[in-house]
Amino acid sequence: MPKSQSLRVLRYERIDSTNLEARRLAANEPPQSTLIIAREQSAGRGRMDRSFYSPADTGLYMTLLYYPDRPISELSGLTCAAALASALAIEQQSGLSPRIKWVNDLYLDGKKVCGILCESFGTPHGTAISVGIGINLTTKDFPDALGSIAGSLQRPIDPEQLAQLICDSLLPYLQSGDNTLWLSGYRERFMLRGVRVNCMTSGGTFPATVLDITDEGALTVQADDGKMHILYAGEVAHIPLL
Ligand code: BTN
Repeated sequence: MPKSQSLRVLRYERIDSTNLEARRLAANEPPQSTLIIAREQSAGRGRMDRSFYSPADTGLYMTLLYYPDRPISELSGLTCAAALASALAIEQQSGLSPRIKWVNDLYLDGKKVCGILCESFGTPHGTAISVGIGINLTTKDFPDALGSIAGSLQRPIDPEQLAQLICDSLLPYLQSGDNTLWLSGYRERFMLRGVRVNCMTSGGTFPATVLDITDEGALTVQADDGKMHILYAGEVAHIPLL
């Protein structure tokens, strides 16, 4: 039986953001693990206060609302687990091979095809987690600002099947907190090893070369001044070759 079978599924034609809906549900209802899927988002949210372009019927826009029965600190690999779950589902449904850019963007042919926004927040019933995933399936006409960055799978995959597959591989991690469930699969698809990047952290931005991923999902880099750093949060951007 698929592990996601016990999930309630809520489907929306159009909504502001499935992640915002997860917060509203969590604030107003008894706790219940829920998969929220929308055909369109009018205010899709991304990491670092960015927006996520979510036109109708061209992508998967989903949020898994989950109430963990362990402390959030034991789920620090969640973003990596979500990236691998999304990559595996895309591979299974399309035969394509997306690559993972730390921490949880998926790329295909140099374009970002999937973004993930994991959040945790307090509710009247304890802490809840929302795992928001956007996958561009057939999206074509991106806004100018995204044109050179964003791409799509260009496959008419059923968004609902994709969402169920993602939940099926993510739920065992959420239940166990076991990093070995995602570590080797994540490393196999990791696209940044040896790549020159700008590291953007709360402490500043610096150029570096990527080394690897730690067993907990942090990024190890060697800065241009020779110092080693372990990034637990933040973002990295490719430095274009001259
Ligand atoms: C990013 O790339 O910065 C993360 C993008 C996450 C987008 C998804 S789409 C479904 C869910 N609802 C949202 O508002 N955001 C996430």
